[in-house]
Amino acid sequence: MASSASTLLVTGGAGFIGSNFIHYLFKQADFTGTVINVDKLTYAGNPENLSDIEKEHGGTRYFFEKADICDHEKISAVVEKYSIDTVVNFAAESHVDRSIFGPKEFIQTNIVGTFTLLEAAKKVWGARQDVLFHHVSTDEVYGSLGETDFFHENTPYAPRSPYSASKAASDHLVSAYFYTYHLPVTISNCSNNYGPFHFPEKLIPLMILNMLEEKPLPVYGDGKNVRDWLFVEDHCSAIYAILKKGRHGETYNIGGENEWTNIELVNLLCEKVAEKNNKPREYYKKLITFVNDRPGHDRRYAINCDKIKNELGWKQAVTFAEGLDRTVTWYLANPEWIEHIKSGEYRTWLEKNYETR
Ligand code: NAD
Ligand code: DAU
Repeated sequence: MASSASTLLVTGGAGFIGSNFIHYLFKQADFTGTVINVDKLTYAGNPENLSDIEKEHGGTRYFFEKADICDHEKISAVVEKYSIDTVVNFAAESHVDRSIFGPKEFIQTNIVGTFTLLEAAKKVWGARQDVLFHHVSTDEVYGSLGETDFFHENTPYAPRSPYSASKAASDHLVSAYFYTYHLPVTISNCSNNYGPFHFPEKLIPLMILNMLEEKPLPVYGDGKNVRDWLFVEDHCSAIYAILKKGRHGETYNIGGENEWTNIELVNLLCEKVAEKNNKPREYYKKLITFVNDRPGHDRRYAINCDKIKNELGWKQAVTFAEGLDRTVTWYLANPEWIEHIKSGEYRTWLEKNYETR
């Protein structure tokens, strides 16, 4: 990031992590810049996630552009029009199960979209070195771990789902633009996030919503797959640290150092929701239902994030107990958000607010 007054192009800012990142940015005392949120508003993009930001900063320090990152002309025009000096690329198809049943969009957005952004940045920025292209990626590019060991930045890529293969390809493209064209880039590979605005197709929000409706809680396979969970705000602070201090061409792993099997996590969630809803501790556990495994289901992810801790002084700030409490509290406090997602009403809201401008 060129300075605290930078103009950032945040792609996918209406999604889960992107919207949390924009909230995070505007809370930072040392950020005085401007955010241009470019989002195609797929099923996962919900501008309602940013209605407070729109109200407070819309038209001054926050601008929304509905666009596809695969649209070269539109993206180049946005980079030029707003004099963007920093790109933070969140936009992606992000759900592994969807990639298994329909990989095409993943190839298009995650690979072609990232390529298009890189081309636009290269074209508009030329040889400038006071700019930055930050690419947000996933630990899934490293494949699946056994019971021990951790993903390091130099772990060989071994993606196993169409989603992770498409993210791996995009990471390689970003890296190639650094070596070939000297485009200033950084990449981060993060573990599983959780927190507010998480789309309820992913494990944690899906389980919470199903509990509220007393529906089955589908646990894939034997429930012993392991994920390393990080509160989304901690991912945002890590990205912010990279924007400010990251070295060009470098990859930074980000993780929670917080491993749980899926079944342990679902049990914890059952207890947390029961506590908040004044139900007996075991109340929701009867809903747990083991279902067929995800094809090619990666067994374990675990991140070693010593590099970003040692080099950039980042560390997680939110414990798992606090993060889960904040997450469950948020879903219980936001029934309207849930209703809109479920009923598709946010699309009507969106048409009112954006399409007719
Ligand atoms: P999400 O699915 O919640 O949001 C994705 C956003 O991108 C949506 O707003 C969507 O409308 C937008 N988008 C999709 N295709 C687009 C296109 N062609 N052009 C413009 N916008 C488009 O995803 P998320 O969970 O917030 O993930 C954000 C990024 O972080 C992704 O790149 C993902 O790979 C990465 N990541 C996610 C996690 C996680 O746990 N969720 C962990 C590590 C990395
Ligand atoms: O590791 C980072 C990745 O984490 C991100 O790159 C992805 O964008 C993000 O979606 C997430 O991928 P996962 O596949 O790990 O997340 P998901 O929430 O889909 O699943 C978490 C675990 O829970 C996984 O082992 C599959 C299991 N699961 C998931 C669902 C939706 C179930 O057992 N039941 C379910 O219904």
